[in-house]
Amino acid sequence: MNKMTVRDIEVTGKRVLVRVDFNVPLDAKTGAITDDSRIRASLPTINYLLEHKAKVILLSHLGRPKGKVVDDMRLAPVARRLSEILRQQVKVATDCVGTEAEKAVAALKSGDVLMLENLRFHPEEEKGDESFARALASLGDIYVNDAFGTSHRAHASMSGITHYLPAVSGFLLEKEINTLGGLLDSPTHPFVAIFGGVKVSDKVAMLKNIIGKVDYLLIGGGMAATFLKAKSYEVGASPVENDIIDIAVELMKNAEKSGSRFLLPLDVMVADKIDASAAGKVVPVDAVPPDKMIVDIGPKTIELFTRELEKSRTVFWNGPVGVEEIPQFAKGTHALAKLLPRLKARTIVGGGSTAEVITSLGLADKVTFVSTGGGASLEFLGGDALPGVVALRDKV
Ligand code: 3PG
Repeated sequence: MNKMTVRDIEVTGKRVLVRVDFNVPLDAKTGAITDDSRIRASLPTINYLLEHKAKVILLSHLGRPKGKVVDDMRLAPVARRLSEILRQQVKVATDCVGTEAEKAVAALKSGDVLMLENLRFHPEEEKGDESFARALASLGDIYVNDAFGTSHRAHASMSGITHYLPAVSGFLLEKEINTLGGLLDSPTHPFVAIFGGVKVSDKVAMLKNIIGKVDYLLIGGGMAATFLKAKSYEVGASPVENDIIDIAVELMKNAEKSGSRFLLPLDVMVADKIDASAAGKVVPVDAVPPDKMIVDIGPKTIELFTRELEKSRTVFWNGPVGVEEIPQFAKGTHALAKLLPRLKARTIVGGGSTAEVITSLGLADKVTFVSTGGGASLEFLGGDALPGVVALRDKV
């Protein structure tokens, strides 16, 4: 990455505003944090700043409160979790701008950590409002972006703020950009990508960008139905993106021309509905009954995918290959997840639901890298410049 990082700037004694992505999943009933990976992922940056005696001021959003104060989306529980991990008090402010925030910042000593309140309680954050960005900037001397997961958003705390402060990258952002960038620039072959999840439309740019660089594209999940339909298979009641069929045909043609091979399922599990009470049945891919929908890949497909993955030296995985939330439809996804740590390959997992699967199975530290960005990693791998990264100072 050609951007300056916290290593390239004097931070001692400075008020350092660190934009983190602590948009962690919360239990719908209890509000408890169900996965703290995003908090842990920013520890290298926070610890570095503490070791160098900076005043650390954390900025984050949580959820989508749409510009209003939503008590369930306050950041105090996140600050508590960070405080347990750091074994040091993390102070909280009840707002991210204005008198409360200013007082909390003024009381900081070197080596203190303060978490400001959810940025998205202010509608100006998502609008990229300049005076809001200026108000945030007035709280610090230096700005650090460590929020890879939000870097595709041109929000006030991501790009607006960089007009008013020296702006550099944190270690998480640097690692994400170098790892995901390296995937496309210099992968060791054979390079196998697994794509799942519901929609092809979300992934068209990434697929276009990765075709020609990968040796195999293994397709599962809801999106397999669209590719199968594009190859004239009957997919029963499976949701299909009919407006994407032509693009799917085009993608497969381009792949053939450029030496990348699409592998579609040989067999699939089908069910009446996507529901925990529904039973699944495995059928060959050319025998999907008209009233059933595809909910997982079948055992022959798992075998086929396993064979290619075992030969690979680089693997990238984005999207579960079945309806992973329902245990009887999660077999394919779990089989592939458990295979990754056994491969002799660099194994890189995209963020969002794929990261949640890997983490929930306790495999996050057994693969090479799990991205903290869902939408951000899709946009980055689709070849888009991320506004939160572009805005940082270039290395000199
Ligand atoms: C994410 O979870 O992908 C990031 O925190 C960005 O959240 P957003 O999609 O609500 O902007």
